Amino acid sequence: MSNSGSEEKIARRVYLDHAATSWPKMPGVNAAWLEYQEYIGVTAGRGSYRSSVSAESIVEDVRRRLASLIGAKSPNSIAMVHNGTAALNLAFAGLLKTGDHVVTTAVEHNSVLRPLHLLTKTLGIRLTIVGCDATGWVDPEEVQNALQSSTRMVAITHASNVTGRIQAIDAIGAMLAPRDTLLLVDAAQTLGYIPIDVDRVGIDLLAAPGHKGAGGVMGCGMLYAQDEVASQLNSPWIGGSGMRSESLEGPSQWPAKAEAGNLNIPAIAAWQAGLKWLDKSSDASLNPRNGTAFLHPVIESHYRRLIAILRQWKNCTVIGHEPGIGHDTGTREYVPVVSMRCNVSSMTASDLAAILDSSFDIEVRSGLHCAALVHEKLCTLQEGGTIRFSIGHTTTSEDLDRLEMAVQQLNRAYI
Ligand SMILES: Cc1ncc(COP(=O)(O)O)c(C=O)c1O
Repeated sequence: MSNSGSEEKIARRVYLDHAATSWPKMPGVNAAWLEYQEYIGVTAGRGSYRSSVSAESIVEDVRRRLASLIGAKSPNSIAMVHNGTAALNLAFAGLLKTGDHVVTTAVEHNSVLRPLHLLTKTLGIRLTIVGCDATGWVDPEEVQNALQSSTRMVAITHASNVTGRIQAIDAIGAMLAPRDTLLLVDAAQTLGYIPIDVDRVGIDLLAAPGHKGAGGVMGCGMLYAQDEVASQLNSPWIGGSGMRSESLEGPSQWPAKAEAGNLNIPAIAAWQAGLKWLDKSSDASLNPRNGTAFLHPVIESHYRRLIAILRQWKNCTVIGHEPGIGHDTGTREYVPVVSMRCNVSSMTASDLAAILDSSFDIEVRSGLHCAALVHEKLCTLQEGGTIRFSIGHTTTSEDLDRLEMAVQQLNRAYI
């Protein structure tokens, strides 16, 4: 396809799948990736020439920005990894031992459920999966009831990637504070959208990809580990580190021990641009110490409109996201990830998503969204899952205008 053909196609596309990855990227992000490749392009922390030192300083700046975004005391509590899945696997494989009991939830993504399931077989950990309600919310009391004396970790998502429901991590953190149990939070759907304060909540481990709301591109992610936990974590991977090459032992310090091999520096350079953009445009809304902050006002207003449009769609029913959303009610309970159940008996959520794409150039995801257990609770497993709409930092009112027009046309066509 010619360039102008691609540009026209891009101009027509309405992308409402930010829960999968953010697109289009924030201003400056793609340019930073390309600039890195064209003008720096080297490994970080290896050579002593100036371009390698520049590469290293990009990584250090991203660490510093991430630490500030999540309220961590030190940039050195952040290990850079390739995606959210790598961060989660690093935490599980690095900390869990035979006989450990782990509590997780039915809301989790497969990047939590599958590694933990595997460790039940390979390492003999014991797993309890706590249920959720019909909006994907986990009752902290159920987490409390699942705790045992050998519970080493509670692993919970900050917000569901299926329903957008935010979990009560403050309450869970407070409940675990007097215990020796680690709290791991999967912030894939929240980093860059809502404030996170690891210190205040008592989060020991926070895993997140860089390519969703946090402003990066695919190929980067982070694992925060609180100091004492970081010192206990045995990294499952080892190799070149750019330091003490004469030794057959890898570094023992965090985060170096978790960063064996070359990092994806072009992706990290792009992430730096995204984090700078977030810093400039989100003012108080992402400040971890600002207790009253929440979604950025523009995203919040798009989110309210998204819900209003989707509620008009007669072919589907919105799951959760109670009516009357507002600062003190709904919006504090959800990130803008909205799943709908298909009501048309001859159709599935996937059929509806295909119609949106082929007839309106609107891209949304359908199916189980890599989180099958929650669908049992939502009663959407038999019908093959939900149709999911998710907005992000670069969603525009024009995107939502197009969705509204599509919903109106589909209402006329199918009902
Ligand atoms: C809740 C949740 N956790 C973890 C992940 C895994 O992130 P990644 O695909 O970057 O490995 C995702 C990705 O969709 C997710 O939605």
